[in-house]
Amino acid sequence: MARKHNFYAGPAVLPVSVVKKAQESLFEYGTCGIGIAEMSHRSKEFDAILEGAVAAVKRLYNVSDDYGVAFVQGGASMVMAINALNFVPEGGRAQFVDTGTWARRAIGEVARKASADVVWSGKDVAYAELPELSSLSFDADVSFVHMTSNNTIAGTQFREFPRTEAPLFVDMSSDFFSHPVDMNQFGMVYGGIQKNLGPAGSALVIVRKDLLERIPQGLSEMLDMGVYVKKNSIYNTPAAFTIYMTSLVLDWLEKDIGGLENMDRINKEKAGLLYDCFDASGGFYRATVKNPAHRSLMNVTFRLAQEPLEATLIAEATAAGFIGLKGHRSVGGLRASIYNSCPTESVREFVTFLNDFAKKNG
Ligand SMILES: Cc1ncc(COP(=O)(O)O)c(C=O)c1O
Repeated sequence: MARKHNFYAGPAVLPVSVVKKAQESLFEYGTCGIGIAEMSHRSKEFDAILEGAVAAVKRLYNVSDDYGVAFVQGGASMVMAINALNFVPEGGRAQFVDTGTWARRAIGEVARKASADVVWSGKDVAYAELPELSSLSFDADVSFVHMTSNNTIAGTQFREFPRTEAPLFVDMSSDFFSHPVDMNQFGMVYGGIQKNLGPAGSALVIVRKDLLERIPQGLSEMLDMGVYVKKNSIYNTPAAFTIYMTSLVLDWLEKDIGGLENMDRINKEKAGLLYDCFDASGGFYRATVKNPAHRSLMNVTFRLAQEPLEATLIAEATAAGFIGLKGHRSVGGLRASIYNSCPTESVREFVTFLNDFAKKNG
């Protein structure tokens, strides 16, 4: 079987070495005589996997002991719901930067019970631009300020964050572990695992431990972030296989890639190949995000000047082995998701395909 060039937005491509290792472990993990998906989450083997994954998260982001790390089933959307329940009192207030669909989901969770103030919204520009950070002002007395680092759908990305007095919560689902970031500036970062870290089934949370003291009593344990952190993600059965594969991806990031600085360099190169191709196409292709400083290195969104040709391109690309290129159903167009595990070679071959397509149809 030839593996295709996978540009899906998530669940997404994983490193071949990780998939092969997981394949072996499904049959037998080490010399256990049973497979990884058949093992107790309270076994010493799984303990070591979980501990190893948390330690790798801390090493890669240089996370201090002031922070706890937890895996939370239910994905990023579950964390958004938990955050509203845990950190915003009834009638309280949180502030948001609205960069699109996922920011709006986080806003919706808070708006059920409290005031969800939008400090800036990209709605009028179809979320194709970001605000100047220096133009944003946040209040000190809100429960948290919330941002989405990478807009998976519109293809924008913040690589820097504002200084806020209130705790800054950032949804990093679609650019988690893609470049170095100083974790000390955040109250919490979280994200679904299914883009840069592993298969679907869990979110990963890095949270300042002192904030857990603010969680009200009386919540269900399953909706209390403090329980996930204090019980080391095994209050109940976690998404054990997802966590195992995440541990392999983290290991790949550390050992094969050599850490987040190297990952960033590779990601910049990959995204550069695509954006340069569009910019040099004489208008045949157009990046939907004009300002290079706002363009995502993870989800590269683009259109053709001749929009009816987009369906032809997707069909021909799919036949040639480039899959997952259709833009999100809410915006149309095209999107190449080139997460950490997407090989540079896939991007190079896709650029050759795009150049040939432009020559044939331009
Ligand atoms: C930036 C961002 N946040 C949140 C989500 C929702 O994640 P989940 O499906 O894990 O709840 C997504 C899903 O694509 C996303 O891209």
